[in-house]
Amino acid sequence: MLSYSKRVGALRSSEIRDLMKLATRPDMISFAGGMPNNDLFPVAQIDQIFDTLPDQLKKVACQYGPTPGHPPLLEALKEHLRGKGMPVDTNEILITTGSIQAINILTQAFVDPGDTIILENPSFIGSISIFKSYMANMVAIDMENDGIDISRLEYELNKPDIHPKMLYLIPNFQNPAGTIYSQYKRDAIFKMMAGKETILVEDDAYGDLYFNERVKPLTVPMKNSENGEFTICYTGSFSKILGPGLRLGWLLAPPEIYQKCEIIKQTMDSCSPNYTQVLATEFLNRGYLQPYLSFLREEYSERCNMMHKYLVNYMPEYVKWVVPEGGFYFWLHLPEDLDASEILTKSIEKGAVFVTGKTFDPYGVKNNRIRLAFSNMQKSEIEPGIKMIADAIRELKK
Ligand SMILES: Cc1ncc(COP(=O)(O)O)c(C=O)c1O
Repeated sequence: MLSYSKRVGALRSSEIRDLMKLATRPDMISFAGGMPNNDLFPVAQIDQIFDTLPDQLKKVACQYGPTPGHPPLLEALKEHLRGKGMPVDTNEILITTGSIQAINILTQAFVDPGDTIILENPSFIGSISIFKSYMANMVAIDMENDGIDISRLEYELNKPDIHPKMLYLIPNFQNPAGTIYSQYKRDAIFKMMAGKETILVEDDAYGDLYFNERVKPLTVPMKNSENGEFTICYTGSFSKILGPGLRLGWLLAPPEIYQKCEIIKQTMDSCSPNYTQVLATEFLNRGYLQPYLSFLREEYSERCNMMHKYLVNYMPEYVKWVVPEGGFYFWLHLPEDLDASEILTKSIEKGAVFVTGKTFDPYGVKNNRIRLAFSNMQKSEIEPGIKMIADAIRELKK
């Protein structure tokens, strides 16, 4: 009998993985993957970058690099983040292997078994798994249409003798809920965190992917307004704005935290892939990012509009949702008596897959929700796929 560590023993294969094994038909329509469609990647620019790289840089690309990151990428990213108003002169940037590694490192830096992390319910499954693997005590607070329930947050932050180590939030186009925080909630969080030792981990994987200039001012990171009254560690990623295969993200943190995180990263992988760091540097320095972002915003906005149209056309009136203003996801609310796992089983029989609500519930319970990603499938699949899921829901509703 193998004796796993307590940390790993707490991790279980999720039901969703088991259900997905059923989804093997080659013509299956998938709303499950929270990633870009392969046809959207800027392959021509990446080819062009590689073809015109001096040999010297190609050799650097194949070599180990410094733990904090490929120095020219750190410089280019610093300028990019400065352009977004981020406090890059008072904080340090650590390049990470995806932003998931930044979240992992921060959790390792701050969380002992039993320590409390406050997070949103629902939340990003990758972070939930990390928090579980460090045996954190997760306190999950419901999301509303404009962000976390702040009266509940205030209550949890001020409970005597708890001292949460971390507040983990995804303020922009949350995964899975698709919501963006209102300015009112952002301001309220600043007020209630002032003077607290709890650090705010601001996960901003989707902030650049707004569909409308009107929402752009709301996507400004909370990190930009840091005022010394509490600590904000900001995580960003190239995954949704260039390609997840590059495995590149970053952490922007105060120098003291950065130093600890750099040592932790050294023990994890020494450095993030130098090869893709060289490519990302050129992508930024040759001015390719902004036009590509404009293309992505239009593309995802079109996909979102299509999905909304077909949801309106096909879903029964008791299925509710908020139309996202950016990002990748629709988050459907179903009546309490419907179970997303049963709907998924039926929907797979018909030929469409999605992710069930309880996958994103840190307590693994609430299951009358469905996450539909519009980022990944072919556009022509959206209508037939939504119809299949709507039919599955109708067949199961008593
Ligand atoms: C909210 C959120 N944070 C972080 C990540 C991790 O992205 P990566 O590690 O690829 O940068 C994702 C990926 O789906 C995400 O949705």
